Amino acid sequence: MRSLLNGLSASKTRFIYLCEVAEQHHTPAKQVFQRGFSSTHKLQDASGEPSSADQVMVHFINRDGEQLTATAKEGESLLEVVVNQNLNIDGFGACEGTLACSTCHLIFEKDAFQKLDAISDEELDMLDLAYGLTETSRLGCQVCIKKSMNGLTVRVPMDVSDIRRQLEVGKQSKH
Ligand code: FES
Repeated sequence: MRSLLNGLSASKTRFIYLCEVAEQHHTPAKQVFQRGFSSTHKLQDASGEPSSADQVMVHFINRDGEQLTATAKEGESLLEVVVNQNLNIDGFGACEGTLACSTCHLIFEKDAFQKLDAISDEELDMLDLAYGLTETSRLGCQVCIKKSMNGLTVRVPMDVSDIRRQLEVGKQSKH
């Protein structure tokens, strides 16, 4: 297993692993993991075309209020959706899902928020550092797409705060 993990990029492995763990059954995320040596990172059915059966529509309200709509797949994280669909969200996902930046901060509607999987202590710690934290905030790299999320709308905060940059500035100001 370790050699397989080493063969994949660290960032990709990190968020695929998250969604694989969050789902207790065989998920598309697991399929992506098992196809790690394929030349394509997109899920495909037996015919080689993306399967529509597991597609989920997700809307992002961008920082400027523009709505971006993406077709996600069950088992992807919301960060993967943004990356795979090339959504133009400024500064989003700077640490590539390694829980080190909080730039993937998203704000959910209350109903949707209550249906999300439990939040980890690590995510809570990072969320505390996010710009514009709300009661329905989560980190996009930690939320896995489920079929029941079809039609989900999430809001991207007006601004972004990358904790890694703040730490760098703090270090420099000490010198
Ligand atoms: Fe950095 Fe989610 S992408 S914490």
